[in-house]
Amino acid sequence: MTVDLGAGDGRAVLARAAAHPGELVVGIDASSAGMVRTSRRAARTAARGGLPNARFVIAGLEALPAELSDFADLVSVQFPWGSLLAAATGDAPALTHLLVRLLRPGGTLLLIISASPRDEGAGASGLDPARIAVVYRQLGMRVAVSRLATHDDLEASRSSWGKRLAASPGRATWLMELRDCRAPGYHRRPDASDRGPE
Ligand SMILES: C[S@@+](CC[C@H](N)C(=O)[O-])C[C@H]1O[C@@H](n2cnc3c(N)ncnc32)[C@H](O)[C@@H]1O
Repeated sequence: MTVDLGAGDGRAVLARAAAHPGELVVGIDASSAGMVRTSRRAARTAARGGLPNARFVIAGLEALPAELSDFADLVSVQFPWGSLLAAATGDAPALTHLLVRLLRPGGTLLLIISASPRDEGAGASGLDPARIAVVYRQLGMRVAVSRLATHDDLEASRSSWGKRLAASPGRATWLMELRDCRAPGYHRRPDASDRGPE
């Protein structure tokens, strides 16, 4: 299962569901506004281009159903803002913990972050991949990829914000891939008190 958290208008969810028909792709966002049209599109019949493997959930990271814990093979957070940005950058470690809780052991977290210290949720430090890596390491996650995103990365995100930024370059965007490296069978606790392997 793949989760796109902060899915916005759900464009990336539909693209992934179409490319991977055997995979359940769940778009989650605190706001329903953007997902209304896409979820209707996904619910069409197959003959009319429906995508039964695409699902949408209206929920904030702060109130995700416990059933989604330890579930996803891949969680993507693309161009987050607000509290989701603070979670992704590790500026709100309790929220970062909620984010990584979605992953099953060995799962991957993909972050594509474009933010400056002026952005709400980015924290005073702005984007500091080395500091972000330290926060995630304490949660049992190791950095596999950390680099500036290319134009192709922005396109490959298949998201509306990625498309927008690809069309008007100039803003630094980071791409990070983190792997869950908990020992098998190790479950994250509901609060932020667990610590994965260093
Ligand atoms: C800049 S938009 C990016 C949307 C989409 N990922 C894209 O790339 O087009 C950021 C999204 O994050 C969502 N968001 C912000 N804070 C959130 C939270 N705490 N939980 C869930 N979604 C959140 C917003 O509702 C918004 O749709």
